[in-house]
Amino acid sequence: MTELPENAVSVGLAARHVVRSPVPARKVMAAREATRAWRKGQLTHEFVDDIPDVPARPNRPELLRPGKMPRRGKGTSVTKRIALIHALAHIEFVAIDLAFDMIARFGSQFPAEFCDDWFRVGAEEAMHFVLLDRRLREMGSFYGQLPAHDGLWDAARDTAHDSSARLAIVPMVLEARGLDITLATVDRFREQGDPQTAKVLNRIYHDEIVHVSYGTKWFEWVCKNRKSDPHSHWKNLVKTHFKGGLKPPFNDSARHAAGLTREYYLGIE
Ligand SMILES: [Fe+2]
Ligand SMILES: [Fe+2]
Repeated sequence: MTELPENAVSVGLAARHVVRSPVPARKVMAAREATRAWRKGQLTHEFVDDIPDVPARPNRPELLRPGKMPRRGKGTSVTKRIALIHALAHIEFVAIDLAFDMIARFGSQFPAEFCDDWFRVGAEEAMHFVLLDRRLREMGSFYGQLPAHDGLWDAARDTAHDSSARLAIVPMVLEARGLDITLATVDRFREQGDPQTAKVLNRIYHDEIVHVSYGTKWFEWVCKNRKSDPHSHWKNLVKTHFKGGLKPPFNDSARHAAGLTREYYLGIE
């Protein structure tokens, strides 16, 4: 069985199909098939106009606004660990759509190598989601059992008008934030006798360094094209679109490996 519609011969149609698929297993399959088709040269570098403002969502999990989410403790018992893995699985689920929305919405403004990078990201986000959902099932839960955060698409909506704003906020702020906190979470799972989840999160951590590096690479590509200074342009975009402010401590070595040097975030913590 194939998840790609028969007319999905262009990048735009294949990427939009992922965003439009609500059921997690089907979204994952569509992501994998679209990526495989791109790598095999089966998709033309063409795009479509009507990209959905919000991706299709499954019936479950129930989505709650940030203030309405039940409190999650530090994770000392199994249920607290499940709650944290569930929250991370939701982040990865939304990350699948963020990657394919990046391709569908902005791909036409970039060379084909942009698609190489974001198809890789999208396929990896699908893998991260699958690994976390598998952990939930091994622990007697599943993705959808608990409510999930409804604010994760806000940044995407807020930056849908400008590729440089999307790159500055989604990979370079939000995913970079993941680099700052993931290693402490890996240690916590290990200390709590859950090396399996620790291993999954460690793998995610290394993949995410690459995702952030693609964000920086293409952000700098746009800046070069528009003849703007990347560091000051980034600072302005962060001030406009990321109201929370950047919070240290930063994982300087991981950020540096992703091209996100101190010149970017110095002075706006
Ligand atoms: Fe991920
Ligand atoms: Fe990612």
